[in-house]
Formats: sequence, C-alpha cells, structure tokens
Amino acid sequence: MAELLSNWFEDERILENYVFPPEKRPGELVVPIGKANVPIVDLHDEENNTIHHIMKVSQDFGLFQMRFILSYLLLLEQVVNHEISAELMTGVMKGRLQYINISICPSNTIEFFRATVGPFVIALRDLGSRILGLISKGLGLESKYFAKELSEDCTLTINHYPPCPNPSLSLGINKHTDPSLITILLTGEVPGLQALMDGQWMGVETLPNALLVIIGNQLEVVSNGKLKSGIHRVVTNAKEARSSAAFFINPTKSCIVEPAKALVEAQNSEPLYKAFQYKDFFKAYTDASSGDIVAVLEAFKIKNS
Ligand code: OGA
Ligand code: NI
Repeated sequence: MAELLSNWFEDERILENYVFPPEKRPGELVVPIGKANVPIVDLHDEENNTIHHIMKVSQDFGLFQMRFILSYLLLLEQVVNHEISAELMTGVMKGRLQYINISICPSNTIEFFRATVGPFVIALRDLGSRILGLISKGLGLESKYFAKELSEDCTLTINHYPPCPNPSLSLGINKHTDPSLITILLTGEVPGLQALMDGQWMGVETLPNALLVIIGNQLEVVSNGKLKSGIHRVVTNAKEARSSAAFFINPTKSCIVEPAKALVEAQNSEPLYKAFQYKDFFKAYTDASSGDIVAVLEAFKIKNS
C-alpha cells in the first residue's frame, strides 16, 4: 500500500519559516505504508523466545532482507501486551489536546499530570527496564547491565503536529536518530512517523495501543555497533493534527558510555567507540540539531589510522 503525500493537500499555503530547504523536503514521495515492516514482539511470550526474537530482528533484518537496515536501523520494535492499559494511553493522548486548552488554568494541568502522566511514566519506566533486561541478556551481558546510570535519566515529551497546508514542503521532525539509550514511542492513529529502511522512507503503522521501541545512539555504542539506532522522521498531513508521546530513556549526564567490555571480549574484537561522558555526547547532538544529527555518532568512533 502506498500513498502520495500530495493526496494529503488541502491548499498550498504554508508559512515561509516552516518550509524546509529543498534537499530536506519530503517532496512528492510515494510513501509505502505497511505493518509488515515493523516486527511485533510480544512480551508475554516465553522469555527466551522474546530475547531470540529481539536479537534475530536486530541481526537478520538488515543482513538478509534489507541491507541498509543493518547499517541504520536494526531494531524498531512494536511491543504489544505491554501491560500499560489502553485507558492510560488514551488519557495521555487526549490530555495533550486538553493541555492546550487548559494552559491558562494551571490547576487542571497539575491534576492531569498527577492523575495521568505520573502513572504513565511509572509504567513506561517499568516497561523500559524489562525491555533493557531482555536486550542485556540477548547481548550476553548481566541482566542488570543497563539498570543504573545508563538508564536513569528519563524524559517524556509530548509532540503535537498541527495540520500542514503543504506536507511536501515541510517535516514535523527532520531525519534523525535519538540520542537516548532507547526510546519508547506512543503514537496515535494519525500516520506520520517514517523509518528509513533499505534507503527508503517507510511509513510506520502502529497497532492500536501498541508502543514502538526505537534503539537510540547509546545502545548502539554499548552494543559495539551490534544494534543500530533507527533513523526516523515525521511527515505532516493537511487534514488532521497528530500527537505522539516519546519517552526517552537516557544515561545520566555524568555516566560514562562505552562499548560493553564483556561484549567486546566475547566478540574477540576491538571497541568501535571511544568512552565518553553522556553530557558530551548530548552537547554534540544538540549542537548538530539543525545539521546532520545522524552523523553525530561518527565523531565518537575510534578512527583506525
Ligand atoms: C522524537 C520522535 C516521533 C513522533 O520525538 O524523537 O522521533 O512520532 N518522535 O512524534
Ligand atoms: Ni526520534
């Protein structure tokens, strides 16, 4: 199934400062949309199967099917059966709209955060540590490898993309990878998220009440390049506003991030990345925010001279 971005037009007026430079625009691209591209991992499956599935997707995907995925996007997983109730998610998604309307009334905002955002964040932290526990086992690391400084700093951001009169000239979010360890993304029903797969932008369709897990730059480093951070972006549409909630699980600012020694030894190889403090990586990432974010990780590679 494919859809032409221009089908999403209503009229062609767009504020000038929202127009992207020609090389960054989505243009008149045919955007394939398909569930098949986003593997589904069921956390209620038997543990070894789940680990195997996560690791298999991470390795086989690019290797056998789509070469570029091996280089850019190894794990973009839809996790179902994740025990975050549908009501809670709907509450957060609706809350965004509510939040806009009530921003002049802080007492409601506080109530919304107390009743909905708080439990949501607790559930996401828990889900995140379960996923990271599975990934650590899959990488042959101790199960609590990610449990402390590597995953202690979490941020929830709510994104809101209003309708855009001409989606071919603009983007909701430019092409990027996330600076996190992993990102858990909740998207609503309006499409817009795209992942770069095999050199092609693919529309990511999420199952109702599913969450996406995106591998971030820090997991690529810790896994010594075994897992790749997913390259993604957001396109807009002319008809409907879109909201998403992104939960970034990050190392603490002073945490030293480096390829896991046990993994490098087991691979009988050399570390591909230098050890760095997360705050230095984060600064390089934010400094590059208007340029090539995807290239930031390159600067932390050990160069073979
Ligand atoms: C992000 C992101 C995607 C979305 O916030 O880093 O990629 O669907 N969001 O909003
Ligand atoms: Ni992102």
